Amino acid sequence: MIITPKIRGFICLTSHPQGCEQNVLNQINYTKSQGTVDGPKKVLVIGASTGFGLASRITSAFGSNASTIGVYFEKPAAPGKPGSAGWYNTAAFEKFAQSEGLYAKSINGDAFSNEIKQQTIDLIKADLGQIDLVVYSLASPRRTNPVTGITHQSTLKPIGGTFTNKTVDFHTGTVSEISIDPANEEEIANTVAVMGGDDWEMWIDALKAADVLAPGATTVAYSYIGPKLTEPVYRNGTIGRAKDHLEAKAFDIDAKLKEVDGRAYVSVNKALVTQASSAIPVIPLYISLLYKTMKEKGIHEGCIEQINRLFRDRLYTNGEVPVDEKGRIRIDDWEMREDVQSTVATLWEEATTETLPAIGDLEGYKTDFYNLFGFEVPGVDYEAEVNEVVEVPGLQQA
Ligand code: NAI
Repeated sequence: MIITPKIRGFICLTSHPQGCEQNVLNQINYTKSQGTVDGPKKVLVIGASTGFGLASRITSAFGSNASTIGVYFEKPAAPGKPGSAGWYNTAAFEKFAQSEGLYAKSINGDAFSNEIKQQTIDLIKADLGQIDLVVYSLASPRRTNPVTGITHQSTLKPIGGTFTNKTVDFHTGTVSEISIDPANEEEIANTVAVMGGDDWEMWIDALKAADVLAPGATTVAYSYIGPKLTEPVYRNGTIGRAKDHLEAKAFDIDAKLKEVDGRAYVSVNKALVTQASSAIPVIPLYISLLYKTMKEKGIHEGCIEQINRLFRDRLYTNGEVPVDEKGRIRIDDWEMREDVQSTVATLWEEATTETLPAIGDLEGYKTDFYNLFGFEVPGVDYEAEVNEVVEVPGLQQA
């Protein structure tokens, strides 16, 4: 079939298999261009199909020759119905990995559930024995707690008062004012239940109890801080509370891993266009100004550049892992540079529908957004018929 983008707000209902494959190949080629890293050898990535998780899987496999197991929640392709981007990304990744003799298998299902944790443990035991890196990179709007059976929904709201600021509809380029009402206690607790560190800890507890963590095993989860501008809706809002919880959990998990001589880290990453971040109000305007500024300074990075830096300059240097005063790895260091942030703050004041095309990188934002779903990827013929039914070579059946 010929597949075209079907956009609904900040999601796209269709994805292009060849565009997704090309995206994955570009990330593989970037990783290879950086040379090999003496990194992990047997890796579990939870949230492995898009964004930072996919980049972590690619960096492990093609930077460090690692065997990888990916866990994700994606829509399979069916005749006449394209699969989700993460489905096609995984199909491409596993095809390329296996063709280079790298072990690559995956599990598609709800990572928050006990069943998927058990299925993953069984697969590790059967094929890899033990793993030495667990990347936790889930981004989800809801979670059913397997112990209580309660389904929690996350919200993206400020805490304590209404937040009013500018935002942009990145499809039309219209800059407008948005007011977001504050969250109540229940909404805060629900967001922490979804995006906090509970499930990360459940994973590590289950893996450790099953004795599938190798001596010296490392686990890393991803967080975000961002500037003053977005603080009310991000770091001081509901999602920020969840990130506080995740970051605090890293210490508990680290203590638990002492038994296997392991370590738990949180890495604070840069703001990037992903399916998760385009859903957060105000952030797209910030990102379009940030992209413009960082590109002009020659320090712009995407997920793959970020994760390569995480592996090569932070986690696997054969030395101490550098962390900030709160124990966090910082690969948002370039985003948070004083010169970058002061430029973005000035541009923010100037941003209107009329000025944004010149002062912001709205085009870059839009292209990245389309790229997430395999569209507007250079080298792909979108007029051509493409087979939408693509299998994931290493997919495990439940
Ligand atoms: P993403 O939306 O690209 O990826 C989310 C992944 O989670 C996908 O692989 C998806 O299949 C998987 N997933 C979602 N629900 C699942 C479920 N129930 N079971 C199994 N898999 C499930 O998200 P992104 O942006 O890569 O985020 C990953 C982490 O990085 C999050 O913790 C996010 O807060 C963090 N982060 C994101 C930043 C950004 O600007 N995008 C910046 C800094 C941190």
